[in-house]
Amino acid sequence: MIPQIWVGRDQEINDWTRIVRPSRIAGVYERSRTILGEPGVGKSSLVNLISREAKEQGDWVTDQLRIPPATDALKRVAKALLAIADQAGLSTSTEKGLAALLDRVRSIAALGVSVSLAQPEGEEPYVALTDLLVEIGRAAIKAKVVVLICIDEIQNITDEAILSQLLISLGDALTKEVTVIAPGDREITRFLPIAVYLSGLPDFEHMARTRQRATFARRFKTTYLSSVTTTEMEQALAPLVNQGWEISDEEGGIKHVYMDQDARDAIIDLSKGEPFLFQLAGNSAWRAGNTDTITREDVLAGWQTVRDEAESHVANILDRLPEQERLVVEIMGELDPAERTLSAIADAAGISPATKLGTAARRLEKVRGIITRGKPYAFRNRAIEAYLTSEWPEITP
Ligand SMILES: Nc1ncnc2c1ncn2[C@@H]1O[C@H](COP(=O)(O)OP(=O)(O)OP(=O)(O)O)[C@@H](O)[C@H]1O
Ligand SMILES: [Mg+2]
Repeated sequence: MIPQIWVGRDQEINDWTRIVRPSRIAGVYERSRTILGEPGVGKSSLVNLISREAKEQGDWVTDQLRIPPATDALKRVAKALLAIADQAGLSTSTEKGLAALLDRVRSIAALGVSVSLAQPEGEEPYVALTDLLVEIGRAAIKAKVVVLICIDEIQNITDEAILSQLLISLGDALTKEVTVIAPGDREITRFLPIAVYLSGLPDFEHMARTRQRATFARRFKTTYLSSVTTTEMEQALAPLVNQGWEISDEEGGIKHVYMDQDARDAIIDLSKGEPFLFQLAGNSAWRAGNTDTITREDVLAGWQTVRDEAESHVANILDRLPEQERLVVEIMGELDPAERTLSAIADAAGISPATKLGTAARRLEKVRGIITRGKPYAFRNRAIEAYLTSEWPEITP
């Protein structure tokens, strides 16, 4: 078994355990979260970890709903809500209104929004989803748990109508205030213990921004994931360096596998802060070694077996960039670090005035975490920098 080593993201994990979960469980308003970032930066892994932690706490969690391109996302969400309703014990309720509501949602889950049959005339399907979410939320108050809904690859929801229905139905449940009876027979109003994590490529930001921006921002707070730091990678590998990793010795006992410090440094150097590359470098080093200690040589030998994959990872990030953003990073790569100013970049691109590239540069910083627009501009994504300015991922021993 290759050890899966987790790196960083403390802030995002604490955000869930210290802010989002405790607020919502206390009935206090807290926005849900959108986690966006470039391919392979670790969005799905992060949300997975959060949902595993939630499950361990006893929360009611949807499986991570991955939305494939051009599918009816509401159908997926409807199905997931039915599963939670089951868990909440609502499915066996004999209450008439609830049974009818479940039928409406079952119809969406089976047929999708376009052909769904069971909606009362004139009612949009999202209303049924909101209503069910509210019922689930009320049950969650009694059970003292949080309902966590995770929807991944949200950039694939390209159908305007479906996206807006989804965002309205989630948003309405998140902002819904209910009245409950607290100890001492007091009526209090509170928000439901529901939290939503939307995750996907930064393209989604554009969609959510051009639609009702203010409404979206009141309901969701966006975090852009970018590279992890050297310190975080050192911390992550410290157990292997310091104590060794326990594995079975194939004779029913256990033995340890250790990592040399310069092997650790080589992994950190090769992975350039990209979680995907960190896993790639670490796993390939583990496989390349055949002694109890992972050495620098193992790391380099392992890297040779995955360098094509490393290269296509970075090439994929570059290929996806809109034309102007790609132009900006490519020219930055050609310029000396000290010369990387917006005017020099525009000059080299033959674009005038330089402000025409302003939006592209801003998005590269704010949305993608690929550059920082200091004086001069610099690369924040070190894998892209290395790819554009050196032989990396090739290594010359
Ligand atoms: N914090 C982390 N620590 C260690 N490894 C990580 C971390 N985050 C991600 N990884 C590794 O990087 C790989 C890519 O991560 P993940 O699939 O979560 O990225 P993503 O942002 O969802 O990518 P995509 O845009 O392609 O969906 C995973 O295989 C995982 O092993
Ligand atoms: Mg993903």
